[in-house]
Amino acid sequence: MCYTGWMSRFTERIPQGSLLFAPMEGITDEPYRLAIQEAFPEWNYLSTDFLRLPSQGQYSDKKILEHFGHHCYSNQVLKKKTGYQILTTAHANTAPHIQRIEELGFDHLDINLGCPSKKVNSHKGGAYLLDDLTSLQKVIRDIRSNFTGLFTAKIRIGYRDDSKFLDILKLLEDEGVEAVTLHGRTRDQLYEGIADWSYIKKAVNSLSIPLIGNGDCWSLLDIERMFDETGCHGIMLGRGALKTPWMATIYEEHRDRLFAVNEESLLFERKGYLDYYFHLLERNYRKRDLDDDQLLRRFKAFSRYLFDDYENSESIRSQFLRSRTLNEFKEKLSCLK
Ligand SMILES: Cc1cc2nc3c(=O)[nH]c(=O)nc-3n(C[C@H](O)[C@H](O)[C@H](O)COP(=O)(O)O)c2cc1C
Repeated sequence: MCYTGWMSRFTERIPQGSLLFAPMEGITDEPYRLAIQEAFPEWNYLSTDFLRLPSQGQYSDKKILEHFGHHCYSNQVLKKKTGYQILTTAHANTAPHIQRIEELGFDHLDINLGCPSKKVNSHKGGAYLLDDLTSLQKVIRDIRSNFTGLFTAKIRIGYRDDSKFLDILKLLEDEGVEAVTLHGRTRDQLYEGIADWSYIKKAVNSLSIPLIGNGDCWSLLDIERMFDETGCHGIMLGRGALKTPWMATIYEEHRDRLFAVNEESLLFERKGYLDYYFHLLERNYRKRDLDDDQLLRRFKAFSRYLFDDYENSESIRSQFLRSRTLNEFKEKLSCLK
């Protein structure tokens, strides 16, 4: 099959200059994504975290649909705005799952090739595949030959080092992957140091498919710098999106004059955004019958980077993380300026 004629369907869906909310396990489930979409619809694109395909047996349709979320599935706007991420290996039962995902009408699959988890890598999945290009090719073929929809890959610059970086990119493009998201670290670097954006520029120059840059974008200035320095098609934010979930909103508002924006001056708006964010999160998780304790655990997970911009951020964060009840958490939120 030839996919070159379809390349524009990625750009149609995710235009040049887009900001994407990164897939994050334990965070970006359906209620969370619905809250983000309602509060901050300026994010151009969202993603599920990864569904790990099994080595044996077949997931039910119910499981496949639940991972994406029934509401997202039946809402055409949300469906077009959300990627379905999977994680698989050369010995997993990939083809039948991909066929079912296609039959169910999903039209964007993203493969996770960046996960650094020891457990996932020991089963030869995630970033492991960046070191074993024979297996990588098999996995990509298993998917591409069974899926006619948009197919993208999310990678790091390598497993132990960057020695296979250009070969990985070439393999992905040659095998029909339609866009790549690149986190500028190796697997062994985990989250150490700062992501190296020069690899994003190298990838932009060596690929003819779109490249989404990722890694250590924490501010409007970082976004502007990543676009300028690398020429990437779009930018994906993970921890930066958890720190400032309204980043795409303020980016949209100021994108034509970012050079003149004093980010400090935008901080006065954050309390309103924070209140709205938690209000929608609570409403959406209550609809899923989460009780106070479950909700408190979720709120704490969302708080890891959320207070980084405050003076005394360490002490504020630890106060929130020490809350024993949901009411205590909410009281602290109401006292925050
Ligand atoms: C809590 C957490 C969970 C993550 N889960 C996933 C995941 O399910 N799939 C994935 O491709 N990347 C996952 N990532 C990686 C992010 O999508 C992103 O590539 C990484 O955090 C680097 O970007 P950042 O510097 O903007 O955070 C996760 C990251 C974090 C912090």
